[in-house]
Amino acid sequence: MKCLATAAAGSDGVVADELAGLGIESAERVAGGIAFECDEAHLYRALLGLRAANRLLVEVGSFNAFTHDRLYAGVKRIAWEGWFDPDATLAVDVHLSGDNRWVKHGGFTVLRVKDAICDRLRDATGRRPSIDKRHPAVRVHARIRANRAAIYLDAGGEPLFKRGWRVADHPAHLRETLAAVIVQLTGWRGDRPLFDPLCGSGTLLIEAALIAARIAPGLAPGRDYGCRRWRTFEPAVWEQAVAVAREQIDLNRCPAIVGSDNDPAAIAATRANAQAAGVGEVVRVTEAAVGDALAPTGPGVLITNPPYGERLGDKRALAPLYGEIGHLLKGRCGGWEAYLLSGDRDLTRHLHLKASRRWPLRNGPIDCRLLRYEVR
Ligand SMILES: C[S@@+](CC[C@H](N)C(=O)[O-])C[C@H]1O[C@@H](n2cnc3c(N)ncnc32)[C@H](O)[C@@H]1O
Repeated sequence: MKCLATAAAGSDGVVADELAGLGIESAERVAGGIAFECDEAHLYRALLGLRAANRLLVEVGSFNAFTHDRLYAGVKRIAWEGWFDPDATLAVDVHLSGDNRWVKHGGFTVLRVKDAICDRLRDATGRRPSIDKRHPAVRVHARIRANRAAIYLDAGGEPLFKRGWRVADHPAHLRETLAAVIVQLTGWRGDRPLFDPLCGSGTLLIEAALIAARIAPGLAPGRDYGCRRWRTFEPAVWEQAVAVAREQIDLNRCPAIVGSDNDPAAIAATRANAQAAGVGEVVRVTEAAVGDALAPTGPGVLITNPPYGERLGDKRALAPLYGEIGHLLKGRCGGWEAYLLSGDRDLTRHLHLKASRRWPLRNGPIDCRLLRYEVR
């Protein structure tokens, strides 16, 4: 089957490497992610094992569409009755790119796709699905690039950043997928100590621990998958993929994975989240301000996501914090590599260190850079 692992800007290389690590070699970079062909077994392995992809989609049809009537006809030609039960609830998302002048109103496009699916199922079975935009049993994506429409079923259902381990929230937490991208871009694979002195709810620490212990993120209890409700779902193949993923787990592979934060609520959140993710034993956190933070015995890798204020006043107030981070690096992390996710160049100047590499990334709507520093 043809699949698409969608990836945020700057993350597609990491997703392609992850797919190769899962035994999927046919991966090709395309707009919006990585396209590849695979069988059911590899689909399930990817669903359980991908850390950096946003969604994993399976193509059910593609055709030229340059009017809404063509789009309706193309979607109706797909044998939806072979994919899912008409009593399932349904949601449709439309993603537009390229020159789609024929699509004047995205809401109408969603409606035509939904009507085509429901009409096909009614003609074939006498029943039609009802719509549930928030928690559908089946999620369909129509990706329309200029005059070409590709229609997908969402194998994950929920986006893959919803790992199931976030039991405690934090107002400025990173997406789990972005944290996994950052850790993998640094090249860290559990070979050296890792330290986040502004750990918030622990997203970087937990995703790093999952990587080091080879815990597939999809194994988290409570995580649901859309493909389990497809008629094509193969329970025995799924169980086999779960068993293979479970066999890989080895918490003893983890080096010191250490964090601190000056907010006690953040420390409590990290502990609760790490516990829920199954890495509570290996993620160690203490309450401390950056100026007093204790790095584990190194040299290791410091990876962190300091606050960056959006307003000028916030920025001014944050400048001393960046000075303290620079001080921590130079004073206590000699020989370490440090990686900062920064949304603001003016603030990173206060580190008084020169970045040796930059990766452009997006943190939600904010354009960011992951910066690497080699601390002498
Ligand atoms: C952007 S948040 C980090 C979010 C984290 N990456 C996550 O995903 O949950 C920045 C963190 O820096 C912490 N922080 C701010 N100033 C600090 C200081 N002087 N010392 C220690 N931590 C500080 C805040 O409490 C906050 O949790």
